Amino acid sequence: MDSSSLEMDLSNLPKANWWGDDYLYQVGGFWLLPQFIQSIYRVVKHFKPIPSDIILASYPKTGTTWLKSLVFSIIHRCSKHRLSTNHPHELIPTLEVQVYATQTIPCINTDHQSSRIFSTHIPYQLLSETLDSSECRVVYVTRNPKDTLVSTWHFVNKWDKARGDPWPLDVAIDKFCDGETPCGPYYDHVMGYKRLSLERPKNVFFVTYEELRTNPITHVKKLAEFLGCPFEGEDEEEQVQEVVNICSFEVLSNYEVNKSEDSPTWFQLPYNSFFRKGNIGDHTNYLNDVTIERIDALTREKFHSLGFMYGT
Ligand code: A3P
Repeated sequence: MDSSSLEMDLSNLPKANWWGDDYLYQVGGFWLLPQFIQSIYRVVKHFKPIPSDIILASYPKTGTTWLKSLVFSIIHRCSKHRLSTNHPHELIPTLEVQVYATQTIPCINTDHQSSRIFSTHIPYQLLSETLDSSECRVVYVTRNPKDTLVSTWHFVNKWDKARGDPWPLDVAIDKFCDGETPCGPYYDHVMGYKRLSLERPKNVFFVTYEELRTNPITHVKKLAEFLGCPFEGEDEEEQVQEVVNICSFEVLSNYEVNKSEDSPTWFQLPYNSFFRKGNIGDHTNYLNDVTIERIDALTREKFHSLGFMYGT
């Protein structure tokens, strides 16, 4: 990204149609929604993490909302009340969606004693200068590509525009495989942060949705240790269990604030669109065997061949 001008000029960027008459623009090898390009540009140019910062990074629909709840609960411990009355996306703002949404560069608290927690969907490849120059902690969550695709397809079809003109599943599959999705290619996004976690394990914690779902206690403990606030004391097990319980899909999705049909000021979809089913393997209800094999073959090529044995 050219950091010498205030706004990014979209006119010369490669464009790809991804749904109806909507286009994505390619920046540094990644496809971005036009409404977020300028704010992503501002984050890349102006955001200077301080060492105590925690950044939650993810490709969309891989468990961001859940990770926000878990990290908020781990850091603040007595968070049940806050989580029952605030949407997770309002407890931990997303850099390019909330913090840098307007042209005015935000004045963020730089008190090194406080823990600032942000999230982002910006690929590491676009944020490398920002993250490489900082000792901040990054937590990256990823999810099986087939469940990510199906979750994305449902999410996009909740947009107003989809009422009269739904995003067909076969188009969504092709776009996912071609990497032409918001913040895609998915595989490059994941590998960017996966490599970073191997290079800088003290600063980057990489976890999967499936690990959190199947073995939450172990991974929440590891996450807390990574964040520098391990569970301690005789009731350690109860404390971890409490965090896991208050952040479970069943509990969170039943709070009025998360069931709300209202849309926040910062996004075009209602609060409840971030909670759907929360299961592993829902793709089997939507993708046929041929599509599953097509995506698995891609996963073997993009992940397994690089030594990351995940996602099939
Ligand atoms: P599904 O569409 O498969 O149900 P993101 O937060 O990155 O947008 O991801 C949304 C996905 O995470 C959705 O998946 C959503 O239901 C699921 N999700 C949200 N909160 C969750 C929780 N507490 N536990 C497990 N999954 C959760």
